[in-house]
Amino acid sequence: MPETGFRRIGDGIRRGAQFSIQVDGAPIVAFSGETVATALLAGGRLALRHTEKSKQPRGIFCGMGICFECLMTVNGVPNVRTCITPAEPGMIVTTQHGLPEVAGDAHH
Ligand code: FES
Repeated sequence: MPETGFRRIGDGIRRGAQFSIQVDGAPIVAFSGETVATALLAGGRLALRHTEKSKQPRGIFCGMGICFECLMTVNGVPNVRTCITPAEPGMIVTTQHGLPEVAGDAHH
């Protein structure tokens, strides 16, 4: 099991069950009740996606589902707002580069 993350408060906190999610092929520790973005931040990962044109990294900005800076692909579904998506055991999360084409998108 990987380390639980250096950004988590250690004392006086009761957490849910510990499990791992796969992020770009590597295990990241998460606890029941955390969002995907929280688990990533606690694991030391700040960049969650890259912009399409300038390839600049983006991470958690609003933390409440409004800004869309935390989009990642989760279990094969693109454009998931990871700041409001609860982590679940065995999730497969991958970094997005730009905005992937979505089935039924009229702009393509
Ligand atoms: S950080 Fe703003 S929508 Fe997720």
